[in-house]
Amino acid sequence: MARRSLLVGFGGFLPDRVVTNDELAARLETSDEWIRTRTGISQRHIAGPNDTATSMGAEAARRALEYAGLTADDIDAVIVGTSTPDQAFPATAVRIQAELGMKQGFGFDLAAACSGFIFALSTAHAFIRSGQARNVLVIGSEVYSRIVDWSDRGTCVLFGDGAGAVVLSGTDEPGTEGLLSTHLHSDGSAGDLLYVDGAVGRRDMSGHLKMSGRDVFRHAVAKLSSSVDEALQAEGLEYKDVSWLVPHQANIRIIEGVGKKLNLPAERVVVTVDRHANTSAASIPLALDEAVRDGRIQKGDLVLMEALGGGLTWGSALARF
Ligand code: ACO
Repeated sequence: MARRSLLVGFGGFLPDRVVTNDELAARLETSDEWIRTRTGISQRHIAGPNDTATSMGAEAARRALEYAGLTADDIDAVIVGTSTPDQAFPATAVRIQAELGMKQGFGFDLAAACSGFIFALSTAHAFIRSGQARNVLVIGSEVYSRIVDWSDRGTCVLFGDGAGAVVLSGTDEPGTEGLLSTHLHSDGSAGDLLYVDGAVGRRDMSGHLKMSGRDVFRHAVAKLSSSVDEALQAEGLEYKDVSWLVPHQANIRIIEGVGKKLNLPAERVVVTVDRHANTSAASIPLALDEAVRDGRIQKGDLVLMEALGGGLTWGSALARF
């Protein structure tokens, strides 16, 4: 039997400052009603001056380690999904290693925008299966408040900041729980639908997020639907077998669309977008952390995770808890 990857630790971090829709409406031509009906978002957490992808990711990691009953000394690899690192290098993952006091193992960042956590989870699973790592910290940490154009009402109202972490742990014991499969996709020909125009390699551009919202919406519904089918078909499972959908939190209408396709009642879909907005690679581990800690996700449950983001990138992960 192939080595299995168990999800053994969960942690999240949200900055203290909460910005409501009404606060945004006080300085932009928008309204609480417009934002809530189009997106499901009521508020978002926004990073303070000392909150960074490193500091937030490290705090989420500490909480995930504590949940798992492990210490930083037990970790072999740190993989961080982020589009908003503090520096071009060292990688956020390596800075987090230092924050945790880790001298062993290795760390690197992975850029897959809002799909970053699914891509990082899949990569960690591959390291565990190949025997290169036993315990892996998989983190999503984002400060989109520093890349949105705060004068563009079409994008800035959608995003928030935060970090989430999961500890993935390899076992050779027989059993059915753990990550069952992951499926990853990207299509660069759709890269101009959602992108950041600039980075340290192109300082001549503004470095702001740009999006064709309607096109992204259309791709999200179609690609996430096929991703969900792909994940279940690969494991010989059906919609009715899914206990919980833990989707990337971009827009309640996209989330409800996928939930309906699975025929899942709304109570079986984990939703944080109302309070967190879109925290990109952090959104799924933040949602997992919430639903595991409040007892919604129970041992034996089949959990389906899916995401789509800039690239376009998209994918899914299916896990038995
Ligand atoms: N407040 C008030 N009016 C607004 C706002 C706002 N914040 N933003 C846009 N509008 C206006 C537009 O200017 C436009 O006005 P016009 O008709 O006078 O030109 C009108 O509202 C309609 O704009 P659309 O962009 O067509 O609105 P739409 O119904 O498509 O909703 C939205 C926009 C919410 C962005 C939607 O397209 C969407 O959710 N797309 C998915 C994108 C997404 O979630 N991206 C996140 C990253 S990708 C991911 O994580 C999946």
